[in-house]
Amino acid sequence: MIDIERVQRVSGIVGNSDAIREVLDMIVQVAPVDISVLITGESGTGKEMVAKAIHKLSRRAQYPMVTVNCGAIPAGIIESELFGHKKGAYTGASEDRKGYFETAHKGTIFLDEIGETPLETQVKLLRVLESGEFMRVGDSRTLYTDVRVIAATNKDLGEKAHKGEFRQDLYYRLKTVTIHIPPLRHRVEDIAPLVERFALEFTRNNDMVYRGFMPEAIRLMKRAEWPGNVRELKNFVESILVLEKGERITAEMVERQLGRNIPPVGPKNRLLPVVVDQSAEQAERELILRQLFLLRQDVESIKQALAGQPGVPVGHDIAYLPDSAVEPLHPALKIDEHDQRLIRDEAIGDMTLEELEREAITRTLQFFNNNRRAAARSLGMSERTLYRKINEYGLEPKIKRTTGDR
Ligand SMILES: Nc1ncnc2c1ncn2[C@@H]1O[C@H](COP(=O)(O)OP(=O)(O)O)[C@@H](O)[C@H]1O
Ligand SMILES: [Mg+2]
Repeated sequence: MIDIERVQRVSGIVGNSDAIREVLDMIVQVAPVDISVLITGESGTGKEMVAKAIHKLSRRAQYPMVTVNCGAIPAGIIESELFGHKKGAYTGASEDRKGYFETAHKGTIFLDEIGETPLETQVKLLRVLESGEFMRVGDSRTLYTDVRVIAATNKDLGEKAHKGEFRQDLYYRLKTVTIHIPPLRHRVEDIAPLVERFALEFTRNNDMVYRGFMPEAIRLMKRAEWPGNVRELKNFVESILVLEKGERITAEMVERQLGRNIPPVGPKNRLLPVVVDQSAEQAERELILRQLFLLRQDVESIKQALAGQPGVPVGHDIAYLPDSAVEPLHPALKIDEHDQRLIRDEAIGDMTLEELEREAITRTLQFFNNNRRAAARSLGMSERTLYRKINEYGLEPKIKRTTGDR
């Protein structure tokens, strides 16, 4: 059985937005069935990734997936590329040659940028899609191939068909099963997990230190437009990590990079606020996880520093808090010799989100001297939510300070 988790594992597709969940759901449904699929979406949204996922999860996975970029092959040779040719079919055709449809026999053919295929070729595509039949160029024998067709386009094929630039019949044949991937700016909640994935992958592959992105940096990235979508985001993450040489990435760094390296597109300011279609609950959860992530890295730094490794900064950019709380220490926490409360390494993986949230809230309140407004802003939650959580977790008496800020 295929499920969403398996699709994510096999394909590496990252994202928790409803849009991505729907895409994953579609993959689950269509992968095992021998049906052609049209994938639509702007450039860089992950169309090829989805095509690969469908192939890998299909019964054809053992056989090749042949990718053809229809937009990159000159019109004059595209038919010979797709269907092959017979020796002598034209000048220079000194041998019989197999085309991609033959090479992909029993497997999958991925026709990328199908909107760019010349109209004459489209008739032949329709035929092979419907019956598996085709002819090599210059040959009169009909050949048969068993391929599954996956096509992709960043164009509005419907409009092209309407204008006569794309065959109606082929369009209708293709669009029966359509998977649409929305642009990144319409699913900004995917940005944090994507950044995490790209950063971890990149730093691991290049033996680089990685200290994470500050929540503010991520928030800023969510407000950018990303016309190149996930591809652009990935390049951005990699270049900022290189340029900042292992520093924790701050909002200032992001602002500098976004402004300098990516030309503004259109009349709109890239950093104008956009509607963030993310529930408050989700946003909170994300922030807490991020805090945990940063904490874990600091634990690492400190451990290394204590082990006497020179040159490792001890939490130089994060404020550790004296343990002024009187509550008994949670078993997942420890106090080090600098009087700092840390989450034990061994506890990572055991602490529930609630415990982490409680800890994050307690420490943030302490940090801001019990100023709830500042704490709420820093945690990225409303004051009202913070109040509710303080009551819920019974934090009130434990974080009272003698200074009595409020
Ligand atoms: N949801 C995603 N999760 C992880 N990586 C992604 C995702 N979407 C796109 N990418 C990455 O972004 C880049 C562009 O993806 P690609 O599938 O080539 O897009 P498209 O074919 O739509 O132009 C690739 O490096 C791909 O691995
Ligand atoms: Mg592509």
